[in-house]
Amino acid sequence: MPAAKFPDAMKLDSCRVCRGKNLETFLVLGPQPLSNNFLKKEQLGGPEPFYPLDVCFCPACHMVQLTHVVPPEVMFSEYAYITSSSRTMPIHLAELAGDVTRRFGLDGKSLAVDIGSNDGSMVLGFQKLGVRGLGIEPASNVAAIARQRGVETVNDFWCERTARQVRKEKGPAGAILGTNVFAHCHDLDDFLRGVKHLLGPGGAFVIEVPYLVDLLQHTEFDTIYHEHLSYFAVGPLQALFRRFDMSLVDVKRDPIHGGSIRVFARPEPNLPPSEEVQRLLRLEKENRLDSIETYRRFARDVASIRDRLVPLLRDLKKQGKVISGYGAPAKGNTLLNYCKIGTDLLDFATDTTPFKQNHYTPGMHIPVHPDTRFKENPPDYSLLLAWNFAEEILKKEKAYMERGGKFIVPVPHPKIIP
Ligand code: TYD
Ligand code: ZN
Repeated sequence: MPAAKFPDAMKLDSCRVCRGKNLETFLVLGPQPLSNNFLKKEQLGGPEPFYPLDVCFCPACHMVQLTHVVPPEVMFSEYAYITSSSRTMPIHLAELAGDVTRRFGLDGKSLAVDIGSNDGSMVLGFQKLGVRGLGIEPASNVAAIARQRGVETVNDFWCERTARQVRKEKGPAGAILGTNVFAHCHDLDDFLRGVKHLLGPGGAFVIEVPYLVDLLQHTEFDTIYHEHLSYFAVGPLQALFRRFDMSLVDVKRDPIHGGSIRVFARPEPNLPPSEEVQRLLRLEKENRLDSIETYRRFARDVASIRDRLVPLLRDLKKQGKVISGYGAPAKGNTLLNYCKIGTDLLDFATDTTPFKQNHYTPGMHIPVHPDTRFKENPPDYSLLLAWNFAEEILKKEKAYMERGGKFIVPVPHPKIIP
């Protein structure tokens, strides 16, 4: 449990969007280890950092956020996740680069900056379209991969200071992107000051974040982990941009990562929101995202997933079945630790990511093998921890299912397929 040598988490004292003080905690998932902190064998006996993983609601602006902030250096200086570990993500990011290039008329003179650029997959997409690209990536191990692929990468966190340095060296940006990074940032004011400083006239700020409506509708509680500080809907984002004299002009839903929104903002005040923005604002009202009751019900749904999944696994183990985890995603570690699924219930996991292979999952210490193990030595059942890539995976593992292998999909309700 919390050992003195690990830096403390900071308890949130006010809402990140509106500074409201009356935050109401509705879900307690922790204490939990850091979901990307895979361990080497020799680290297994040693201390492991655990932090509270609790979620609260701001009654003033309806923002949903974690109650505790783990220092970012602890989570993002080295990073186990790489974008090209699935086939879906690089394709998705190339499509995003195309969408932004067309919408905002980017060309050979334009600069597109990707915040949280990981292995450079999206910057490469811009380069292919003839747009100048630059990555910003705090994790040195993945920044090095990007550079090897020919992607110019600033190895740093995004903030106003970084923005000033980039503008001095490269000039203003035509587009700034952040896919799955805005929710990782505690100081959104500093982040947006940087965005406003670097964007040129007519520029756009484009982010993708998991959509709170999808998270609630499909009880995707495992996408809650320390890296994800904020759980966004259009309403609170619109309020946040307004505070910076920016306008949320358009939004698009996308099925990626269990349901996300792609949000387009411009650095000018009072631009009219699109029809789709207004439609999603209505949807958020219909889904009662403004009521604490909605979140209390969600917390009950989360407990019921655990209460069905654990007996199911226990039963299969009693029958002598071998069960593996398919993928070792960060979200899997929220699920495993919350349900306390250890090696008594899950024999091993397999994953395509080299940084995770031959390591152990944080907290529950499930051994992670290379994905080739799945084919060589197929389990009877496979818990689909990477359920967000179900389509890609079920297609790839047809032969496994034809030979009688089964998948267990944990959310929104534990389900066995076929
Ligand atoms: P992902 O769901 O993208 O992210 P997060 O870590 O944010 O929850 O991670 C998917 C993981 O699943 C990643 O570690 C790669 C792995 N994976 C496989 O092992 N095999 C596959 O076929 C796919 C699609 C993913
Ligand atoms: Zn608030």
